[in-house]
Amino acid sequence: MTMFLVRTAARTAVRTNSCRSFCVSHTQLSDRKGLVLGVFEKKEEEDEGTLHLTEAAAGFDKSLSGKLSELLKLSGPALKNGKSRVFYGLHKDFPCVAVVGLGKNNAGVCRTENWDTSKENIRQAVSAGCRLLQDLEVSHVEVDSCGDAQSAAEGAVLGLFHYDQLKSKKKTKVTTQLHGSADVVGWEKGIVYAEGQNLARLLMEAPANHITPTAFAKTIEEKLAPHADRVTIHKRPQAWIEEQQMGAFLSVSKGSEEPPVFLELHYNGSPDSKQPPLLLVGKGITFDSGGISLKPSASMDAMRADMGGAATVCASIVTAASLKLPVNIVGLAPLCENMPSGKATKPGDVVKAKNGKTIQVDNTDAEGRLILADALCYGHVFNPRAIVNVATLTGAMDVALGSAAAGVFTNSDWLWEQLHRASVVTGDRVWRMPLFQHYTKQVTDSQLADLNNIGKYSRSGGACTAAAFLREFVKAPHWAHLDIAGVMSNKDEVPYLRKGMSGRPTRTLVEFAAGLAHNG
Ligand code: BES
Ligand code: ZN
Ligand code: ZN
Repeated sequence: MTMFLVRTAARTAVRTNSCRSFCVSHTQLSDRKGLVLGVFEKKEEEDEGTLHLTEAAAGFDKSLSGKLSELLKLSGPALKNGKSRVFYGLHKDFPCVAVVGLGKNNAGVCRTENWDTSKENIRQAVSAGCRLLQDLEVSHVEVDSCGDAQSAAEGAVLGLFHYDQLKSKKKTKVTTQLHGSADVVGWEKGIVYAEGQNLARLLMEAPANHITPTAFAKTIEEKLAPHADRVTIHKRPQAWIEEQQMGAFLSVSKGSEEPPVFLELHYNGSPDSKQPPLLLVGKGITFDSGGISLKPSASMDAMRADMGGAATVCASIVTAASLKLPVNIVGLAPLCENMPSGKATKPGDVVKAKNGKTIQVDNTDAEGRLILADALCYGHVFNPRAIVNVATLTGAMDVALGSAAAGVFTNSDWLWEQLHRASVVTGDRVWRMPLFQHYTKQVTDSQLADLNNIGKYSRSGGACTAAAFLREFVKAPHWAHLDIAGVMSNKDEVPYLRKGMSGRPTRTLVEFAAGLAHNG
């Protein structure tokens, strides 16, 4: 029996129970199929060795007269949550079958973790199974829904993503398909959500000499091309930005040779074209050197992802368009580099934002708030029902929460509820942060201007003073600022994302927009 388990190069096996021989050598190595199946943990009171296969796994087991469960018991201890085991030669259609541990059945929403544990377990397990099969160069994988086809699809597509565009040797491209479930709608939705996050990951991971402001705008334009019936795009050039008197944005872009772009996207998904839109604004610094307040060179390369706000906002609009969400969305992304040069803004310079407020730029590395200030002022012309801006804004946010959750600073309990609900579903969490006058005082006390771009107690409460600064450019009653600096990249904290730029919180933004769409 154990011969089924041996990781062997000889790809032949004999299926004993149904007495039908098959020879896998007929199958091209390159187009071998794999299967991912789930198994839940046994309940505490149950005997060791009790197996709780998912519906699809039980069906597969039955078709093999119990061979799978027999091998699972023989091959070692019960599979813990997120752990997987591969069986070879079990079935003629699937030379490799990965069985993955799903943890407790029906774990559901956990109030302390602020996420749905069942969904997270499925994402983690399916991702691990798919990656194991990808490493075995399996090119097509069928996936058990594990009771939640959307989460399974998300785990598969997020787990398989790997940025190797610029390498000669690439990982195996794996196509995925739902196995043993009728929930094709849930599966397809999960694929679209995860592909949205992967688009943001791609933009964030790509080097800054590839994703310039111009290249960023072109990529998004191409991604939105299939949805031209519902989408309008404006790639506003420098002359337009000047006409708009966006002096804060221009003060950042002027240190670079790369021209800035103000990207404006309109997705008209609501049957009521007059419905006030959701306004999404994303920080689009395609490289943040710090400017004249130059950053230390160690880890400066990570600042190619300082357009993570723009990437997640634009990717979520591409996703909303793919899903045909019945909601109107306007997306704004001020895109530029923050570079030092003879033309760059100097510490102590005073610049004027679109709303006429003057800003003393004491630190040119606090540039995100400058470009967002002008974008927020401009965004009010669309009379939005809510404004959500997203930015890799402060290192202090990473210090506060790390990569567990994005910080949300908002003037609206309603908006907080909507964002929080969405994040519980996606597992890409948010956590509320304060917008006290205490912090406002620290940015409005400026020697030369109305505002200073850094808090007067320098590093203390850095994420909060940055948020207080942005608030000075908002008049709308429903505004939220998401500081995503802490969730920008992944080492191994989110098990279903490989190491690299995370594309977080794209799925939460999509789920939030879907919530607005369905609540009218
Ligand atoms: N882009 C950075 C913030 C950042 C840091 C994002 C680490 C992701 C990871 C931002 O522009 C910045 O440099 N902020 C300064 C502000 C300070 C000068 C007040 C910071 O956080 O140090
Ligand atoms: Zn900076
Ligand atoms: Zn920055």
